[in-house]
Amino acid sequence: MAKGNVAVIGYGVVGSGTVELFEKNLESINGKIGRECDIKYILDLRDFPDSPYADRMIKDFDTILNDPDIEVVAEVVGGKTFAYDYTKKLLSAGKSVVTSNKELVAAKGAELLKIARENNCNYLFEASVGGGIPIIRPLNKCLAGNDILQVCGILNGTTNFILTKMIREGMSFDDALALAQKNGYAEADPTADVEGIDAQRKICILGSLVYGRHIYPEWVHHSGITGITTDDVEYAENAGYSIKLIGSVNKIGDDKLGCMVCPRLVPKSNLLASVDDVYNAISVTGDGVGDVLFYGRGAGKLPTASAVVGDMIDCLKHRHTVLAMSWEDSDSNDFLVPYKQIETAMYVRVKIADAEQYKAKLSDMFGGLIFIERANRSSDELAFITPVIKEADIDEGLKKIAAAAEIASKIRVL
Ligand code: HSE
Repeated sequence: MAKGNVAVIGYGVVGSGTVELFEKNLESINGKIGRECDIKYILDLRDFPDSPYADRMIKDFDTILNDPDIEVVAEVVGGKTFAYDYTKKLLSAGKSVVTSNKELVAAKGAELLKIARENNCNYLFEASVGGGIPIIRPLNKCLAGNDILQVCGILNGTTNFILTKMIREGMSFDDALALAQKNGYAEADPTADVEGIDAQRKICILGSLVYGRHIYPEWVHHSGITGITTDDVEYAENAGYSIKLIGSVNKIGDDKLGCMVCPRLVPKSNLLASVDDVYNAISVTGDGVGDVLFYGRGAGKLPTASAVVGDMIDCLKHRHTVLAMSWEDSDSNDFLVPYKQIETAMYVRVKIADAEQYKAKLSDMFGGLIFIERANRSSDELAFITPVIKEADIDEGLKKIAAAAEIASKIRVL
């Protein structure tokens, strides 16, 4: 039987982890595939003379593309430029591609899945969401019998790590981010992590997969964690909530979806509230299964490699078999409800002179509010949680006190 040759493009954090894990478990992988396989090439423009795999390092992409023995390629370069070009060429040549590149899947998934299908090969991306957590396959297979009502969770390891370090250990934002970078969790440009862009890509992938039509990131509202203050954390704790960066996609009515990424107050009774450090957790609600929670390390070298290698094995096992997974491209976002029209409860902190006198007025305005206390709350501060109403109506209400008040924080409640 022909040897199963694979290649790895990119020898960064995930690429080196992929090679390390594949080689460490090679014997058992051979057993699982039922034939011999190995990594033939590792493509990277940098030199790694001291690497134990130096003899397999190459710099020319065409060597991989033109080698008929290469069945599967792990694209772990990231980004949308080289990775897009390489992936299209490889799939068009009938070579399966597996990836952790959520940016590319979120931007070009529908197109790349179509090319794979047309060329009798596979484009798999288990590692693109949730690091080492199995979520793409369960959604595509095990839970496929459900009408999925909601997918929602902590999708970014870096921000969850930073929030945990800041809240539990009093570490500064910058120190926590530096540690996340050192641990290999953060993106090359960590703005994507802290501004919610990475989680936005991931919720788009999950939403596209579940609802069968491409949800482009630019259609999805996102905000990150940079505006969260220790004041808000204290109020949230006092009211029985943790603050987490949450990505969510859910059905609204029969044919519309809500989709967004933002920090949220998560009730302590919700399991997501106790997901800390680099861990991610994704909660799926189906009409048959009810609630299911997927939990594990959401970033890092070997956890992400675990998902990449799993996909490589799947492709090697199913050579010339298209593993059914696809969604349609979308030319309009009219199936997404604008985020301001979505109903939510909102935590609000306002700065307002003589705050006490506004309590009754604000309460009347919103039809009831839960006011939150903290030790030594200053006389010019109020923190409260609104009832569940359209976000646009919350904004309208807050406008009415705009002349007297400064809106210091607004955080949606899960
Ligand atoms: N930067 C990403 C994160 C890596 O922190 O979740 C895993 O996708």
